[in-house]
Amino acid sequence: MGAQRIDGKLIATKKRQAMKSQIESMKQQGYVPGLAVILVGEDPASISYVKGKIRDCKEVGIYSELIQFDVTVSEKQVLEQIEILNANDKIHGLLVQLPLPDHISEQKVIQAISPEKDVDGFHPINVGRLVTKQEGFVSCTPAGIIEMLKAIDVPISGKHVVIVGRSNIVGKPAALLFLNLDATVTVCHSKTKPLSKYTKQADILVAAAGSEALIHANDIKPGAIVIDVGMNRSASGRLVGDVAFEEVKEKAGYITPVPGGVGPMTRVMLLENTLIAAMRQHEKAGKQ
Ligand code: GUN
Repeated sequence: MGAQRIDGKLIATKKRQAMKSQIESMKQQGYVPGLAVILVGEDPASISYVKGKIRDCKEVGIYSELIQFDVTVSEKQVLEQIEILNANDKIHGLLVQLPLPDHISEQKVIQAISPEKDVDGFHPINVGRLVTKQEGFVSCTPAGIIEMLKAIDVPISGKHVVIVGRSNIVGKPAALLFLNLDATVTVCHSKTKPLSKYTKQADILVAAAGSEALIHANDIKPGAIVIDVGMNRSASGRLVGDVAFEEVKEKAGYITPVPGGVGPMTRVMLLENTLIAAMRQHEKAGKQ
């Protein structure tokens, strides 16, 4: 018997439907959630991601602004734009698409964003809130993974979660989220040897290394839940994950496809974070 597919696209569509009525009720209360996206340069992948984010906002009724800069823009100009958006009441969520050109410090840019508008969850204040299990914003991909597991009623407490990849955007925040939900967490990375010794122990395996077909059937425990975060281009130009899907699906209990798994969940969590940001800022403004 093969694994059940976790349909991230369907789960995300249902979440967007629910958001539409939530946004309607916000509008009746006199406010519209707003997201601003800053894009520097013309990296084709970044342009495509950003367009997707703006399209998603339009679909559910979130107000959006796209601010585009030439690749030669100075760090100071980007920081000044962030200050303007931090002070703009129509904007509740603000993100700067990464990567940035070498002459602009990613850390300076991330830290210039108001933590209350940091819907990417990249600001050190929000990372610290996650570490200490306080309310904040959590990076969209790991938040989307948890949301997916909740949608299919997978218990997390007491499970052994093995994460392959230690990026600031996925691996590290995913480890903290699972730990906060009482899982036992192992984080593997490019220096972990042998990788399969650890991946075979996973009840839930999160592959987020950015390496095509890194995980094979021999690397997993029968019945494991396999979450594929990879977004790699194969030699033939196809979008493929970190998991050798065809063979792993025969042995896993659940598996996410690429595309149509984690990707749509990441996108929908940005919308959710923007709604949460708008609600918190609206509530705070009412108290002042
Ligand atoms: N580049 C790739 N993924 C992301 C993301 O989630 N947020 C931002 N700001 N840039 C990215």
